[in-house]
Parts: sequence; structure tokens; C-alpha cells
Amino acid sequence: MKRSVVLGTGSFLPRRELTNADLERMVDTSDEWIASRTGIRTRRIAGKGEENYRLAAGAARRALEMAGLEAGEIDLIVVATMTPHMTMPSCACFVQAEIGAQRAFAYDLNAACSGYLFALDMADKYVLNKPDMNILVIGSETLSARVNWQDRNTCILFGDGAGACVLSGRDHGGGIIDSQLFTDGNLWELLYMHSPKSLNPDLVQPGDDHGYIRMTGRDVFKFAVRAMEESVTALLQRNGIATKDIGLMIPHQANIRIIHKLMERLGVPEEKVYINVNKYGNTSAASIPIALDEANRQGLIRRGDLVLFCAFGGGFTWGSMLMCW
Ligand code: ACO
Repeated sequence: MKRSVVLGTGSFLPRRELTNADLERMVDTSDEWIASRTGIRTRRIAGKGEENYRLAAGAARRALEMAGLEAGEIDLIVVATMTPHMTMPSCACFVQAEIGAQRAFAYDLNAACSGYLFALDMADKYVLNKPDMNILVIGSETLSARVNWQDRNTCILFGDGAGACVLSGRDHGGGIIDSQLFTDGNLWELLYMHSPKSLNPDLVQPGDDHGYIRMTGRDVFKFAVRAMEESVTALLQRNGIATKDIGLMIPHQANIRIIHKLMERLGVPEEKVYINVNKYGNTSAASIPIALDEANRQGLIRRGDLVLFCAFGGGFTWGSMLMCW
């Protein structure tokens, strides 16, 4: 049976680094506070010529190169993002033009920080239906454009970047095994970002403040840990897989304390968890594919290994996915 397998991975980060020391000069904070509460030491911030779609295209080119495919062989491009540089056309349309993937149809998907898992899950369904499809699944964000740089509660947390993989159908025994996705729209007010202000006065949202990202950190923290733990536990159970059988866990990189709590509750040892939140901060939908690409290029995943992904984000949205490499 043909399953969706990853033929290649890629990532692309903006050049400019913004360290905790830099942030100390911008808001009332300290390297010690940021590092101890979040694990973040530095993050990348997009500059001129590094719009979201250009980061996405950079990651896509690297994934294509590893897959040994030309852009013209791609059938579909899905970009998981909540920070496209334009509302229309989608980021995916710009990527299609930028890399020259003429035969691909392309669109964006927004499930906040869980976006990459939602996009992979959807791409998997296309491949199961048509195994010959080559799909570029990209997670790309420029959250720096939507952060209030005067708000120390949020501006220390986020970073920019992109990651991608090429997915296609193969029957070599590996591939996506199962996934589980969830949404609870009732909890949206704990983590949100307004759209650009409505030009229809009747539709202006109360509290709209330039579309900055907003959150109630402690509630998000608690819900995120519990939701990801429950999702992973249920996914492993229904596939008859024990935690000790996991080769590598790649969680969404929001905060080291969320990751540590999750590891503790699931009983996954540190050496089996890929962590890079210290280098890039929370890159939302880009965090899982950037981590996957780094782990892959470092040789941390071998053919036959079980890879476990889990994510949590605004919506709330969350879920997990199991893949055999
Ligand atoms: N530097 C110094 N002090 C700060 C900073 C800062 N950057 N930010 C907040 N503080 C202060 C607060 O003002 C508060 O001061 P007060 O007690 O005088 O009022 C104090 O630190 C404690 O604030 P809390 O918000 O209670 O701090 P907490 O320990 O909860 O840590 C944090 C905040 C890191 C945001 C935490 O709640 C968290 O990790 N939440 C998870 C949210 C998250 O990761 N969101 C990302 C998006 S969602 C996702 O991707 C899963």
C-alpha cells in the first residue's frame, strides 16, 4: 500500500538575529527572565527582501533539491501561515510563481501554530487518493510584522522563518501512519490576532488594536500541555505504539517549559525530543518543519524510525501525527 512519505525537507531563516540582549534595550526585560521562562535565547527577524513568501520559497527550493525534483514536477503547494504579506493572493500563489512550479495549484491554510500538522494531514489525504501527486507542504511565518514591539509579554516570544517538505506516495513501508486534529473555537480569546481594521464601521471588532498578537499566557500554557498530552496518548494507544518505541518527537517549539512538561508527562526522554526554540523562538506554523529539516540534516532520523509530531495554537487548534521515516 502506498503511503505519504517525505522525499525531502528544507528550511530557510532570515539573516538578522535578535538576541535577548537586543530585547533588553527595547523593552523592560532581561536575558535571564526570557531564558528561564521560555528557553529562548535568540530569534531571527525578517528584513528587506525577506517577505514571508520568499522565506517559504527558500525552504521549498531546499526541500526540492533534497527530493531530487524540479519545481515543475510539483502538483500542489500548501502554505500553512497566519502572516501572509498580502491577504490576496495567498502566500502559496507567490511561492508558486517564485519557484516556477507552473503545474501546481496552490493555496494557504491557517490553523495558527498547529497549521503545519493540519496542512500535512490534508496533503496526506490527497496523496492517499492520488499517490503520484508531489506536494510541497510549507510552514512559513513573519510574526515580527504582527507583534507589538512595546509589549514585553509577547514580543520576546516570536521569530520568523520557514520550513518545508515534499510529500508523495511510495510503498517502501514508511510514511504517515495516523493523525488526530482538534479545534475548540470557544477558547479563541485566550490567543488571537485581529485582521486589518474593517472599512465597514459595522464590522469593526471591539478591541481591535492594529492586529497585534494577544494571549493569556498562563491559560495557554496549561491548556497546551494537557491538550498535546491527551492527543499524543490517544494517538499512540489507538496505533498500539508505546512511548519507548518513538524514535524522535518533534513538538511545536513555543516554549521550553511546555516541551519539558510534555516530555515529563509522556515519559519521553530528552534525547528523543528535538528542541531548537532557543535559537528561533516561536515561529508558529514554521516551527515543526524547521525542526524536522534540522533533525533530518543532522542524521537524527533513520529509515524505519517512528517520528511523532504534536502542536498547539490559536483557535484553539491542536493535534498530533505519527510517521514512519
Ligand atoms: N520580561 C520581564 N518580565 C515580564 C516579561 C518580560 N518579557 N513578560 C512578563 N513579565 C512580567 C509580568 O508583567 C508579570 O509581572 P507582575 O507579576 O509584576 O505582574 C510577571 O512577569 C509574571 O508574568 P506572567 O505572565 O504570569 O509570567 P509567566 O510565568 O506565566 O510566563 C509566559 C509568561 C512565558 C508567556 C508563559 O505564560 C508561557 O509560556 N505561556 C505559554 C504561552 C506561549 O508560549 N504562547 C505562544 C503562542 S501559543 C503556542 O504557540 C502554543
